[in-house]
Amino acid sequence: MPAGESFYITTPIYYPSDVPHIGHGYTTVAVDTLSRWHRQAGDDAWMLTGTDEHGQKMLRAAAANNVTPQEWVDKLVGESWFPLLTTLDVANDDFIRTTQERHEKNVQVFFQKLYDAGYIYAGEYEALYCVGCEEFKPESEIVDGTGPFEGLKVCAIHSKPLELLQEKNYFFKLSEFQDRLLELYKTEPDFVRPDSARNEVVSFVSQGLKDLSISRSTFDWGIPLPWDESHVIYVWVDALLNYVTAVGYGEDDANFARRWPAYHVVGKDILRFHAVIWPALLMAAGLEVPKGVFAHGWLLVGGEKMSKSKLTGIAPTEITDVFGSDAYRYYFLSAIAFGQDGSFSWEDLSARYQAELANGFGNLASRTVAMIQKYFDGVVPAPAEYAGRDRVVQKKVADAAAAADAAIEHFRIDEAIDAIWTIVDDLNLYITENEPWALARDEQQRGRLGTVLYTCAEGLRALAVLLSPVMPQSTAKLWDALGVEGSLGALTAQPIREAGAWGALQPGTAVTTLAPLFPRVEQTA
Ligand code: ME8
Ligand code: MG
Repeated sequence: MPAGESFYITTPIYYPSDVPHIGHGYTTVAVDTLSRWHRQAGDDAWMLTGTDEHGQKMLRAAAANNVTPQEWVDKLVGESWFPLLTTLDVANDDFIRTTQERHEKNVQVFFQKLYDAGYIYAGEYEALYCVGCEEFKPESEIVDGTGPFEGLKVCAIHSKPLELLQEKNYFFKLSEFQDRLLELYKTEPDFVRPDSARNEVVSFVSQGLKDLSISRSTFDWGIPLPWDESHVIYVWVDALLNYVTAVGYGEDDANFARRWPAYHVVGKDILRFHAVIWPALLMAAGLEVPKGVFAHGWLLVGGEKMSKSKLTGIAPTEITDVFGSDAYRYYFLSAIAFGQDGSFSWEDLSARYQAELANGFGNLASRTVAMIQKYFDGVVPAPAEYAGRDRVVQKKVADAAAAADAAIEHFRIDEAIDAIWTIVDDLNLYITENEPWALARDEQQRGRLGTVLYTCAEGLRALAVLLSPVMPQSTAKLWDALGVEGSLGALTAQPIREAGAWGALQPGTAVTTLAPLFPRVEQTA
């Protein structure tokens, strides 16, 4: 991708009725890392996240709490959803709420266009609705209830009774888009990733599409249809439009042209909305389809999809209060293949924190800085002559940087971290093999000692640059300790695609003491 190109990336907009759990945090830090990487590569990056505030679920929760829906969402967003971004150190560029005027107004503009173009018609509807999903359920996702719901039809995801709805609705002619969608998946094989998600979508669309109900008339917590104000727009299509209204659709053509189309990262639970309905709506409106939709897997707790409604929800602060936000980010992004399900456990988190962060990266940084202080009065030595083993490190750094960037192009953050970690492992091995403490005892080896410690420090320079999108806080501390801000500039301004070019660190740079990047944690369990 040439530098300066638009890289607009989004998270789903979350329902604020649930408090954030580590699943929401997972998507959000993944998107933040991809966006930080592209920004540091010189691309015109823009990260959007936000909240999905209309619909029946929200209306009922507000009523149960004796407040208006607007008061209810304001409270939840302010108390839980904005703070999540601070908790996880997320550098989003924008936060959209579907109750904002910039959204509501332009959603109406969009649907009026579709109506005028003949893609919308009125019809009768009767179907089973799940308020938890905010979706009419297909046969395949309806099961028989058990326990208190014996004899009732329940949602396979929420295990709660479905509601039979019978009303006049407006419909979008989704069925007309089957061929164009299949053509899209064929000509843009990366439109849906990973392959498992793509296959699911292709097979779903190949079976034929039904028109989509896009309005509801039995409640009013939503955006009115411009031509029939007795209906509000179905919450899911209202929500999907956030991706365009946030960048100026309907009111700022220049910004819209600059940003759109976007990449969408979503959990696989909401893949079809993004890979089928959303591009069809855009095609109908004559707008470009997204650049791609990446569906990641589920975080499992005790073998089940973690969810608030099943009481397996873990708040992100439970992790960050103990391990810090960098560890949260590193753990979820490295331990789970992006695109597949992954099991969360406290044991696994603790073990990786200790082995990979504290003993691996943290210790490499601490001992390198400490040895430069001890043997060179805190001044980075100039390398003397490079030997074969030193060149192995240099090549490892160059290869890892290139491999990491290639992995990020494919949204495989886990593979990027794996590639970067080959530098951590190799440098730790390099120190063991070269025994700088032994070289320091022999005045004849002064030049060699300088080469070894320069190699470690320059390797750390590259690690700080490459890991900064994943772990912004610890890499900033390391950057500080390396004392390179003056000569190289701010860490987040380092061109990430040049991170692997050897020799950026200037000999003569003064390092400063580095407190442990990943301190020992008190075991609470
Ligand atoms: O679906 N594992 O919002 P939502 C991994 N408002 N990710 C998880 C997860 C888990 N166990 N649980 C949730 C909605 N997520 C709509 C979206 S977009 C136009 C509208 C993450 O609050 C994952 O990203 O239910 C999933 O897709 C999203 O939260 C669902 O959030
Ligand atoms: Mg959900």
